[in-house]
Amino acid sequence: MSISTFAPGRVEILGNHTDYNGGVVLSAALHLGITATGEKLPDGLVELASGDMGNVEKFDRTKGLQRTGQWTDYPLGVAEMLARAGAEAGGFAIRYESTLPTGAGLSSSAALEVATAALLMKLYPFSLSRMEVAKLCRRAENEFVGVNCGLLDQASSVFGLKDHLVFLDCRAESVKNIPLPSHFGLLIINSGVKHALVGGEYNERREQCFEAARHMGVEALRNVTMAQLEAAEMPDLAKRRARHVVGENERVFQAIEALNSGDGELLGTLMTASHRSSMDNFQNSTPELDLLVELAIKQKGCLGARLSGGGFGGAIVALVEMQDADRVLFEVKKTYEAQTHHEAAGYLCRAGDGALPPDGSGA
Ligand code: GLA
Repeated sequence: MSISTFAPGRVEILGNHTDYNGGVVLSAALHLGITATGEKLPDGLVELASGDMGNVEKFDRTKGLQRTGQWTDYPLGVAEMLARAGAEAGGFAIRYESTLPTGAGLSSSAALEVATAALLMKLYPFSLSRMEVAKLCRRAENEFVGVNCGLLDQASSVFGLKDHLVFLDCRAESVKNIPLPSHFGLLIINSGVKHALVGGEYNERREQCFEAARHMGVEALRNVTMAQLEAAEMPDLAKRRARHVVGENERVFQAIEALNSGDGELLGTLMTASHRSSMDNFQNSTPELDLLVELAIKQKGCLGARLSGGGFGGAIVALVEMQDADRVLFEVKKTYEAQTHHEAAGYLCRAGDGALPPDGSGA
């Protein structure tokens, strides 16, 4: 008998590059994501197929799994981490269907991991808290796939809630869902310029953040205020990187207050400030992302916009009044495509549900 699970992609709303610095993030799960449909196979046998890729890839886990550099590393990594956690998933066949654009920075990899974990935990019943699932999927990506991401993508895919943002505190490893008023839409516009997270820039930025934390004698940049950072002695580049991260943490807390008082203007302003900090301090934007943000924030009904996710390409997210969303997208697309000759694919999203329903533990 086959079973299906769905795990959404995510969009980062605020809190850029804060997750691996013990910081705070606001994100949303999307209505776009990956559906995994699978069934049991005899022990050790694994068959993976993707709607997009055609072929069925076959593996025998009794012979040990090696990373191949293909998309199959993500599900295999999850099976491996489940086994390490004591949940031996026997054999399985899974077919994946995706509605997520790849390379847009909407975390198709986390959706792939989380959909796999949710499915395997149904095929071979095993109970883990939602936070444990998110962390296990991140471990699969860090240790098996070999990408040093933080917890944001997996946690958003697990903990999303319709019409709510996900507030993730990476130091406390806790999540709260915060209502997003229904007249706001999240307009995602892909710059059409490829994002390659496995590339060195992400790891380089990470190292620079850790370097700043070392200079300040703290375990993570989360433990630093802006005043302390500005007063500290350290190389200019490390300080600029840290300024972005510390500023992002501050903006996330301000955004939560803005959401609590229904102040969409302020939320939008904080998002645009985040983008400016990416441009000036973290230098993880691109000319295309900058252009998309400038075009978006000029439009009536757009409250703010910023790059979302790792950066170095991918998509922006704009906070828009639902009633104006189509016009904002039309205007931005028209000018962007005329100026850059890249396609600007747009997706109007509302915050959607995560892969795992609340388990009541609050974990
Ligand atoms: C990527 C990573 C996340 C996070 C963001 C930047 O999406 O996978 O863990 O670091 O970049 O905030």
